[in-house]
Amino acid sequence: MAKIKTKWVCQNCGYETPKYIGRCPDCGSWSSFTEETEVKNSNSSLQSVVIDNTPVCLINEIEITESIKASTGFEEFDRVLGGGLVQGSLVLLAGDPGIGKSTLLLQTAGNICNNGKKLLYICAEESGSQVKLRAQRLNVNSDKLYVYSQTNLENVLSQIDEIKPDILVIDSVQSVYTSNITSSSGSVSQIRECTNILMDIAKNKNITVIVIGHVTKDGNIAGPKVLEHMVDTVIYFEGDKYKSQRLLRSIKNRFGSTNEIGVFNMAENGLEEVSNPSELFMNERRDVVTPGSVIISTLEGTRALLVEIQALVGTTSYPSPRRVSTGVEYNRLLQIIAVLEKRIGLNLSKHDVYVNVTGGIEINEPAADLGIALAVATCFRDVVVDSDCVIIGEISLSGGIRNVSDLEKRIYEAQKLGFKKAIIPKLLKKLPDNFEIEIIQAERLIDAIKACVSSQKSKT
Ligand code: TYD
Ligand code: MG
Repeated sequence: MAKIKTKWVCQNCGYETPKYIGRCPDCGSWSSFTEETEVKNSNSSLQSVVIDNTPVCLINEIEITESIKASTGFEEFDRVLGGGLVQGSLVLLAGDPGIGKSTLLLQTAGNICNNGKKLLYICAEESGSQVKLRAQRLNVNSDKLYVYSQTNLENVLSQIDEIKPDILVIDSVQSVYTSNITSSSGSVSQIRECTNILMDIAKNKNITVIVIGHVTKDGNIAGPKVLEHMVDTVIYFEGDKYKSQRLLRSIKNRFGSTNEIGVFNMAENGLEEVSNPSELFMNERRDVVTPGSVIISTLEGTRALLVEIQALVGTTSYPSPRRVSTGVEYNRLLQIIAVLEKRIGLNLSKHDVYVNVTGGIEINEPAADLGIALAVATCFRDVVVDSDCVIIGEISLSGGIRNVSDLEKRIYEAQKLGFKKAIIPKLLKKLPDNFEIEIIQAERLIDAIKACVSSQKSKT
């Protein structure tokens, strides 16, 4: 017997209520509720298939089965995944429409198939010939890559039984639907139910499933937020649509760290991995450096990255001065400004301060403090930090400079890219003397500022 039920579902976060309400009590969004009718078969195939024979056992008795990780053919992608695709896992690849998710997965599909695995690509948004055209452009060709233009998940299930792929790609979760429930595809209920079925495929049939999900800022399409807790790994593909640089970032990962990022470049023939991203971020820097531009060495996961911090300090025309930060935590910026005012004596109370990290990187670690402080201070004083100087250090409220983790790795990255000088915290232990780069140890913020200013003056 089929049971019919209607409910109102928030399309932003998935909150359910029996009656219409204007504002979601869970996520706070307005007018986000739509009515959904749900017909659930009590003898749904899903429920009937699951027979649980797993015995309850002591933790000491459990044998560890080594999880098999398959390479995606992209080192950048593998690192974000924590070493590769874990067999039988469910991965969500989320991102704005048009950012390049389908491109990335089609190229990955090609690489995986070249390694001898069978892959089924469900293109629910495009026809087979459209995918073929794209594959030609991307130079993807394999006799193990199956493409199926289908939106109904039950049809997909029957093809899985026939083809028996190792990996299944769903492009995208917003365009597939299951006949188990009657809500339209893209609604929260459909997305949830489809993900449940896909989870079932991954775990019971031991097939790795990669699901694409679109996110929009206005939340018109039910966002993959509702899926995040259901899947094993959530990866965001980000970037500015008008620039070629793309970042892969993992938000949740049951099989690895979430600190890693992968950097790609969107080119004529698809995505190219950027194995030395510092070079890419540095490329945008001109030879003539303006006041307020500072290079820092930051750590993203296990890798050191050089990025540019830019500051703009100008007399304000507002009653209270503006502080704007992009890529740097706002409260961190306020704290650094307070230290500059109190410990260095910079009077910024009548000045607007804008700080920006180039390349769309978000910096969350305190090791960037000194770089931000020097960017603001040098812009305020209208002096230039040497273009071949890199800045590393955390600032304490007393104006002292604290040591940071993985200092040698950060200095080494700067040396590799041809930097001649590094301003670092004062160390108690000796650094290895195999660095060719000049290292200046600064105990207090004022010392670091003097080191930049004096080098500037001696140059001119
Ligand atoms: P797509 O993978 O279709 O985005 P998504 O699946 O996330 O919606 O990528 C679309 C954009 O990528 C499109 O605007 C053009 C660009 N692109 C290239 O620049 N080079 C290429 O080789 C390909 C295939 C796409
Ligand atoms: Mg697409």
